[in-house]
Amino acid sequence: MTHFEEEEYTEAKFDIEVWKKIFKLMAPFKNNIYLGVGAAIILALIDAVYPQINKYAIDEIAGNGNTDLLPYFIGFYVVIMIVIGFMVFSFIINAGNVQRKLSYVLRKKAFQNLQRLPFSYFDKTPVGWIMARMTSDSRKLSDILSWGLIDLSWGLLMMIFITIFMLLTNLKLALIVLSLMPILIYLSIYFRKKILHAYRKIRKENSKITGAFNEGIMGAKTTKTLVLEQQNYKDFDKLTGTMKHHSIRAAMFAGLYFPSILFIASIATGLVMYYGGNDILVHGLQFGTLYVFVAYIGSFFEPVMQLANILARFQQAQASAERLISLIEEEPEIWDDKDVIEKYGDAITFKKENWEELHGDIEFKDVTFQYDKGEKVLTDFNLTIKQGETIAIVGHTGAGKSTIVNLICRFYEPTEGKILIDGKDYKKRSLGWLHDNLGYVLQSPQLFSGSIEDNIRYGKKDATLEEIKHAAKLVDADKFIDSFDNGYDTIVGEGGARLSVGQKQLISFARALIADPRILVLDEATSSVDTQTEKSLQRAIDVVLEGRTSFVIAHRLSTITKADRIIVLERGKIIESGTHLDLINNKQKYYQLYTNQFIEES
Ligand SMILES: Nc1ncnc2c1ncn2[C@@H]1O[C@H](COP(=O)(O)OP(=O)(O)OP(=O)(O)O)[C@@H](O)[C@H]1O
Ligand SMILES: [Mg+2]
Repeated sequence: MTHFEEEEYTEAKFDIEVWKKIFKLMAPFKNNIYLGVGAAIILALIDAVYPQINKYAIDEIAGNGNTDLLPYFIGFYVVIMIVIGFMVFSFIINAGNVQRKLSYVLRKKAFQNLQRLPFSYFDKTPVGWIMARMTSDSRKLSDILSWGLIDLSWGLLMMIFITIFMLLTNLKLALIVLSLMPILIYLSIYFRKKILHAYRKIRKENSKITGAFNEGIMGAKTTKTLVLEQQNYKDFDKLTGTMKHHSIRAAMFAGLYFPSILFIASIATGLVMYYGGNDILVHGLQFGTLYVFVAYIGSFFEPVMQLANILARFQQAQASAERLISLIEEEPEIWDDKDVIEKYGDAITFKKENWEELHGDIEFKDVTFQYDKGEKVLTDFNLTIKQGETIAIVGHTGAGKSTIVNLICRFYEPTEGKILIDGKDYKKRSLGWLHDNLGYVLQSPQLFSGSIEDNIRYGKKDATLEEIKHAAKLVDADKFIDSFDNGYDTIVGEGGARLSVGQKQLISFARALIADPRILVLDEATSSVDTQTEKSLQRAIDVVLEGRTSFVIAHRLSTITKADRIIVLERGKIIESGTHLDLINNKQKYYQLYTNQFIEES
């Protein structure tokens, strides 16, 4: 948890390459950016010109008594207000559009790439990290590049316009105001740093507190039996005390920042009043000029604070952008070669017309395999499976059973050696071809939120309701589905949370069956279910395996005994193989396993 919370306030150098990539993603909606920034420029210009008009009105109407001009001024003000209204409207509409479109593009690109990335990527990348990229990073980045970018252009240009107008109006007064700029910049940097620093500390403490909460709640029972309450309370009190200290510091700096900017602005106003007032008396300076300067000081100092804030946010957003780009550009370790994609299509567009029919002969040829970090799980592994054969794999935990099926599914690829399907290296055909012909029923069945019907249809996108019902009936799932008020429309909840494990399993069998895969992999559940469900599941397994090349990582005795061949695995090696009867007669490892473990079941 902590490692990605702390990354937030990195003080990275400006990196043009990252921003170029992000701007490239924004190209399709650059018109929104131009219109938004354009509106901001016009607003900044109006903000700078407005006091000049007032000055003219003061000098002409009040100073020279030229009341004939009054109607023109009124008309002019009305026009200005209308223009401002339109510009603010355009600003809001366009910034909103940029924000929505950018966060859509970022999430879409990242999601698309996640679909390509193999299991090995997820082995080394915590889900929390990915979630943070998809949510908070993409939000930060799209906020800053919409509202932030437009605010930035408005603030910067307003300061530039005002500086120019001040210099043109009265050089002496302008130089007095501008001489305070360095103090202003210094203060902004100082406070920004202090506030960021305090926030960083707060975040760190906060994640510690969340962790303590978690342990405190999860471990409540253990705490009570061990009488650790008092100790826990003390630790927690200390953590929250540190957090309070840093929170107060952050609030103090944030609170001091605004008044100190205001203080400088007041000094500026005072100086202008003093020197300008003197000039009015002595050198006949116009009142309007004095007014213009007081107005300019008011609107000059406001964007300074905003700019400091926006620039700091840009710096953080760059870190967000870097991480998002790394996710979007992450190259999958398992991916088809160019010529394979050319012939068979990629993961999204299949060229089914070029696909050979998959029969289901599989051969492991001198396969050696190791996970990213770790020892060799398989060494020179050889295994030949005929089309339609059912292989049961048994062995102790960690023996390599799941690894073998992961390799067949090409979730991982052999480190050395080859896997042949129908006599041909499976890397020479596309991932899409393999996965379209492959069904995998996981140990813990994974459903998606939606209805039961939707979940079965994931196996075959164009299945009719009739086909879905047929599949459910074949695996004996129809009984419990029909018993629900909403039948096939029943919503399963996130991940199928509203169904029991046995029900989820039956649905995932129906889903596998409707896809009619040539190769089927079953990581069998050990979870104990009632005898009725057990029978349904067994029937479902028999139906699903029928006529396909199947791998069953079997725990259920009934599944194992029915297999065409059983292989007994120990530390990545096949130590025995044969039918149930062969192996029983052998009186070796399988016999031991059988007598120790399975005999109880029967
Ligand atoms: N994603 C992974 N990254 C690194 N090592 C892994 C990974 N998955 C498995 N291993 C290692 O590979 C070896 C074989 O694991 P595998 O999952 O194939 O065992 P298994 O026979 O399926 O065990 P179980 O019956 O517990 O499911 C183990 O030593 C395990 O620690
Ligand atoms: Mg396993």
